[in-house]
This record gives sequence, C-alpha cells and structure tokens, in this order.
Amino acid sequence: MVKMFFSTDAFMFFLMENHHMKVIAGFKGNTLSANKLLVLVSGTLFYVLAVGQFIFAYYTLVFYGRSSIEGHFEKWNKVMPTGLIDGDIVGNLMLAIHLFLAVVITVGGPVQLMPWVRNNFRTFHRGLGRIYIITAFMASISGLYMIATRDTLGGIPLKLANTLDAILIMSFAVLALRTARQRKFALHRKWTLRLFVVVSGVWFIRVWYGFCRLVSEGKIPGSAPNLEGITNILIGFGSYLLPLFLLELFFMAQKRRDNGFSLLVFGLLLVFMVIMAMGIFSFSKVWFYRLTI
Ligand code: HEM
Repeated sequence: MVKMFFSTDAFMFFLMENHHMKVIAGFKGNTLSANKLLVLVSGTLFYVLAVGQFIFAYYTLVFYGRSSIEGHFEKWNKVMPTGLIDGDIVGNLMLAIHLFLAVVITVGGPVQLMPWVRNNFRTFHRGLGRIYIITAFMASISGLYMIATRDTLGGIPLKLANTLDAILIMSFAVLALRTARQRKFALHRKWTLRLFVVVSGVWFIRVWYGFCRLVSEGKIPGSAPNLEGITNILIGFGSYLLPLFLLELFFMAQKRRDNGFSLLVFGLLLVFMVIMAMGIFSFSKVWFYRLTI
C-alpha cells in the first residue's frame, strides 16, 4: 500500500509502499484519506481558477469598458491581433458583444459553482444558471462568427481548436440545462463542471502561455509569431481538452474510491494547480500592464 507524507512548506509529497495497503497522509499531524486529499486539492484548485478568472474579468471590464467610455477604441487594437476592422460593422459589433459577454461569463462561472452560493441562494443560482447558459451560447456564436469571417491569428489549426471548443460549450450547455430540468442532479453537476472547463478554454489558453513564458523566460519553443507553431496548436487544443481529461479522471476517482488511483489523480491535479497558479501570476502581469496603456 501507499504511505504518503505531505509537506506544505516544500509543497512536495513522497509516495511510499508499505505492507499495510493503507493510505496515510501526514498533514500537520492529521491523518487524511486519499479521498480527502482529492477533495482538498480539487477545492483549492477551483479557488485558484476562480481568482485567476476574476482577474481576467476585471481586466476585460476595466480595459474595454474604460476605453469605450473615453472613446479610445484604438486601444482595442493595441491588445488584440485583429480587433476592430474599418468598415466591418457587423464584425465589430460582434466583437463588442463578445467582450461584454466575456465579463458576464467569466464572473458568472466561478460564482455559480461556489457551493455556499448554490446552497444559500437557490433562486439566484437558478437565474444565474440560465444567464450563464444563454451567455455561453452567445459568446460561442459571436466567437464563431469572428473566426469564420476574419483573418484571425493561428490560421486553420487554431480556428479548428476554437470551433471545437465552441461546439463543446453549446453541447454541454444543453446537457447541463436538460439534466437540471430532469432533476438528475448528479449528472447535472458533472455537465456544469464540464461546461465550466470548456467555457474557460480561452482563459486557459492565456494561462498556459503565461506559464510557458515564465518557464522559458519569454522564448517559448515551438511557438511562432503567427501562432501556427506546434506549441501554439498544442495549447489551442490542450487548453480545454487536458483539463477536461483531468476532470474525467477526478470523476472516476470519486466513483472507484481506489486509494492508489485517487492518489494518482491527486498528484496530477496538484501539478496542474501549480502550473495554473504560475500561469495566472505570469499572465496577470500582462493584463495589469494593459490597464496602464
Ligand atoms: C466563452 C468564453 C469566452 C470568453 C470569456 C472570451 C473572452 C474574450 C476576450 C476577453 C477577448 C478579447 C481579447 C483580450 O483582450 O485578451 C476575446 C476575443 C476574441 N474571442 Fe473570445 N471568449 C470566449 C469564447 C470564444 C470562442 C468560443 C471563440 C471562437 C469560437 C472566441 C473567439 C474570439 C475572437 C476571434 C476574438 C478576437 C481576437 C482578435 O480580434 O484578435 N471566443 N474573447
């Protein structure tokens, strides 16, 4: 079996085999089961993602909101590769709608998933759930319109990655709504978590770039200026497919209740959480810099 000592200081853990086939976790002197560790890491990961998404929403609201109120729309094109295009009224309108929806969805997702909100404000939870699903649909459609009609960075591979993300968002949104209406709440929980992951896809992309920039000191191997390099394609698809895969492993671990498997998933989620925290730290500097433009 597995003995595990968890050091908060070094944020490292050591797995050891022993003949009792029983998981023991040393955590400030308390014994924790593998399942509790899983709950602990998934809960902490959720709040790390939530903080990162609130920073992204803050940037989107303040940067685009302030520049719009001041009439400095030229600032949009300083941070977006394509941005506003002269004469493209529909496309520009879609972009503006997309940005407004981005704020709603980026704040709404984490708030909707917070257990105390769900448990204490049920009417609010139901209302926000509907808004979230409609917003997810509209953000996907406006995004699809832009990548179909504009010459966006990343070429065909990134257009495909974004299109698949949009399709998954709309499919999962329908399934989340349907399972809620059918009162199949265990399934509903799964579909809302999957929806949250795919909706967060565009945010994950930025965080992965933040992480890669941090560890490669700005020179990301396989990344091309036109975003058509192998790393760009991997980030395009992996941004949401990898977290989706980890989420499925988490569901499996919860169902199987096998200590070894739970510890494996715990370890993967821990590594993912550290990567996310580093990426958020790194990309937040970009967002806060943009607020000074
Ligand atoms: C559903 C969650 C989404 C959120 C929160 C979101 C958020 C954003 C934000 C904040 C921007 C401005 C760029 C920046 O300041 O960094 C943006 C631009 C954009 N988004 Fe999304 N987005 C979402 C989904 C999508 C999807 C699914 C697609 C494609 C199918 C898409 C395509 C685009 C495009 C093409 C731009 C303009 C980029 C440019 O002009 O260079 N978005 N989005």
